[in-house]
Amino acid sequence: MLSRRYLAMWCAVILLAACALLAATHHLSWFWIIVPVALVALGLFDLTQQRHAILRNYPLWGHFRFLFEFIRPEIRQYFVEDDTDEKPFSRAQRSIVYQRAKNDVDSRPYGTELDVKAVAHEWISHSLAPTKVDSHDFRIVVGPDRAQPYSMSIFNVSAMSFGSLSANAIMALNLGAKKGNFAHDTGEGSMSKYHREHGGDIIWEIASGYFGCRNDDGTFSAEKFARQAAEPQVKMIEVKLSQGAKPGHGGVLPAAKITPEIAETRGVPMGRDCISPATHSEFSSPRGLLEFVDRLRTLSGGKPTGFKLCIGHPWEFFGIAKAMLETGILPDFIVVDGAEGGTGAAPLEFTDHVGVPLQEGLLLVHNTLVGIGLRQRIRIGASGKMITAFDITKTLAIGADWVNAARGFMFAVVIHPKLLQLFNRSLFRLLNMIPKRDGVMLATA
Ligand SMILES: Cc1cc2nc3c(=O)[nH]c(=O)nc-3n(C[C@H](O)[C@H](O)[C@H](O)COP(=O)(O)O)c2cc1C
Repeated sequence: MLSRRYLAMWCAVILLAACALLAATHHLSWFWIIVPVALVALGLFDLTQQRHAILRNYPLWGHFRFLFEFIRPEIRQYFVEDDTDEKPFSRAQRSIVYQRAKNDVDSRPYGTELDVKAVAHEWISHSLAPTKVDSHDFRIVVGPDRAQPYSMSIFNVSAMSFGSLSANAIMALNLGAKKGNFAHDTGEGSMSKYHREHGGDIIWEIASGYFGCRNDDGTFSAEKFARQAAEPQVKMIEVKLSQGAKPGHGGVLPAAKITPEIAETRGVPMGRDCISPATHSEFSSPRGLLEFVDRLRTLSGGKPTGFKLCIGHPWEFFGIAKAMLETGILPDFIVVDGAEGGTGAAPLEFTDHVGVPLQEGLLLVHNTLVGIGLRQRIRIGASGKMITAFDITKTLAIGADWVNAARGFMFAVVIHPKLLQLFNRSLFRLLNMIPKRDGVMLATA
C-alpha cells in the first residue's frame, strides 16, 4: 500500500484528516470536507472496481489518463496536425466542402500547400489549347437503348440509407439533388417519404435485405418492387452486392434504432434487429445475378439497372464478365466502390483490411470490360473519397463514367442553408405552440 501508485490516494486521505481536524477545531467550515470525502470515496471506488485496470492500479491518478484521452482529438486537430494530415478526410478536404456549401470564397492565395515533390503527389497535365465547353452540366446517358434511359450527372450522392442518416439529412440531400440536377442514391434502406418530399432524382438500391420490396420472410417481392420502381422519381435500379467499407459483411440496424418510419419504409417489424444478410437469397451465381438484374429492369418498366460492388477476388468479377458473354444479359452500369469507402457502422477489420481500393478495383472492371468488348455498352460509376473536381477528373481518366460521393455530401449537409431553414421553420412551429400572451410578439420565419 506504500507504493507510489497510491500516492494520490494517500494525499486524499491526509487532506481528509487535515480538513476534519481543522473543522473540528472550528478553523474550517464542515462544508469543505465534501471535497476530500469525495476524493477518498472515488479512490476507494477505483480500487475496488473491476472494469478499468488503470484505475484499479492507479486510483485517482488514473483519471488524468482518461481526461487527456478525452481532449486528445481536439488537441491533435487544433494544434498538432497539419491541414493535410488527418484521416479519413483532412482538414483541407473538409474545409473546401464547407466553403463551397456556404458559397464562401474557396480560392487560395499564394500557392499550393502540398509537397509537389512527394512520392504520391498527383497532377493533371494541362493543354496549351484548352477546350471550350458550352455547358458545365456534364452528363452521361445510362441505358441508352432501354425504354427509360437516364441522363446522369457525373457527380451524384452515393448510397446512404434512411436510418443511417436522419430524415432532415435525407431531405437536404434530395433537395440538393433536385436543385443541382444530379441523382440521389437511396442506400439499402429503401425510399422513404423524406426522399419524396423534394422530388430529386432517385436511384433505388436493392440490397440483400430487399427493403421496401420484401415479403414477411425477407424474400424478394416482385409485386412490391414493381409498384415502387414505377414511380417517375425513380430513375435507375441498383443491386448492391457489397460496399467498400465492409465487403461481404452484410449489416444490422439494431432494434433500438428502428423507428416506426424506418420500419414502414423498409417493410420490417418494430422491436427486432433489421438484418441485411451477407448474400442475396434471389441468386447465388454470376448468371443468377444477371438474370435478377434483367428481371428488375423488366419489372421497373425498362429503367437502367446495374449493380454496385467492391472488388474482392478478381476471378469472381471475371466470372460475372464471362456470364455476360454467355447469356448476353448486360447490366446497364456497374458502380465500383473502393475499400476506402465509408459506412454507418462496420467492424474495424473489414473497414481497414478487406476489399480492393478504388483505383485498383476500377482499373480491373474497366479493363475487363474493354477486354471482352463490352465497355461501350456498360457504364461505370465509382465511389471513394470524391471531394474535389480533381478527384472526379482523375477517376474519370482511369475509367469511370461518373462518380458518387457519400461523406463529402455529409459534410455539406451539416451546414446546408436548407437545414438552417428547416431549423428555423421547426423553431417557428415550436414558438407558435407557446400560448400567445398580450404584448408578446412571436418570431416569424
Ligand atoms: C453513413 C453511410 C451510410 C452508407 N450506407 C450505404 C448503403 O446503404 N448502401 C451502400 O451501397 N453504400 C453505403 N455507404 C457507402 C457509400 O455509398 C459510398 O460507397 C462510400 O462511402 C464511398 O464514398 P465516400 O468515400 O464518398 O464516402 C454508406 C456510407 C456512409 C458514410
